Amino acid sequence: PPERLQEDFDATIAHDQRIEPRDWMPDGYRGTLVRQIAQHAHSEIIGMQPEGEWIGRAPSLRRKAILLAKVQDEAGHGLYLYSAAETLGTDRAELTQRLIEGRQKYSSIFNYPTLTFADVGVIGWLVDGAAICNQVPLCRSSYGPYARAMVRICKEESFHQRQGYELLMTMMRGTDAQREMVQDAVDRWWWPSLMMFGPPDDASPNSARSMAWKIKRHSNDELRRRFVDMTVPQAEKLGVTLPDPELRRNEQSGRYDFGTPDWDELTRVIKGDGPCNAERMRRRRSAHEDGAWVREAATAHAAKQAARARK
Ligand code: 3HC
Repeated sequence: PPERLQEDFDATIAHDQRIEPRDWMPDGYRGTLVRQIAQHAHSEIIGMQPEGEWIGRAPSLRRKAILLAKVQDEAGHGLYLYSAAETLGTDRAELTQRLIEGRQKYSSIFNYPTLTFADVGVIGWLVDGAAICNQVPLCRSSYGPYARAMVRICKEESFHQRQGYELLMTMMRGTDAQREMVQDAVDRWWWPSLMMFGPPDDASPNSARSMAWKIKRHSNDELRRRFVDMTVPQAEKLGVTLPDPELRRNEQSGRYDFGTPDWDELTRVIKGDGPCNAERMRRRRSAHEDGAWVREAATAHAAKQAARARK
């Protein structure tokens, strides 16, 4: 009976167990997972653009090889997450269509420009660092396929974060011009990295339900604070300053107090008028159109295979 289904679902969540694709689940649970996993996947795919612009201009073969590996990883994360979303009854073609038509979101962070090669290091250190803070708890998300995808993705993210930090360490030991490039990149990426965690808890319409369903394990503000606590000592070691005059260690709590991100900026960027939104969507759309012949050929080939198998 239906009420039994809801009871079993609630008991599974209450006991910190996993909901699997064939289990009954409330429509709202399915819907918010499709929303979040699709956006997560879109973010990985769009995220290839800002760094991808530097593959052809990397300063050495070693840096080029590392960056190539990282961007390829992001593509893999995207495809992995589309597969997790497809276990909920959607299809990556439909999700891509929604992204291209602006009916689904991707992370605001990828709408900022990568002006120098120091941006590649700062993205690895701050953006992938923020991603790790957000994705480690998602390994304990109540939906099985999503949590398992996160375990593999988190392993690769730590390589992304390390290579970024090592790149910056190298530049900080270089010339004054290189040190200035690193500080300039930190000044441009610090606040947008804090905004990656989402709006403040009192302005986060999805959080209450996502936390009740144990999809989201910690609030936006809690994860943002964890990221700041983790990153400030790394900035000190690197020898850069963070562009927040209110940032200071709170002796009582042992954590860092910090200023308030510009929430109007986050809203604007999410709505589509960040520095690079139009360019990111234009390139995603043309990549999709240019790739149509591959999808058609693969579909035709699969149909021939199936016809041959039936003979
Ligand atoms: N960029 C774009 N949209 C954002 C956003 C951001 N930084 N922060 C919040 N939003 C959107 C939400 O999607 C929601 O809109 P929707 O209802 O239409 O989807 C709205 O703003 C309100 O935010 P909520 O806090 O209510 O939404 P959530 O509960 O979904 O929390 C989130 C937002 C914390 C980003 C959550 O969705 C999440 O944890 N997502 C999975 C992780 C993820 O997507 N990370 C993005 C970075 S990609 C990445 O890490 C790749 C790495 O390789 C760099």
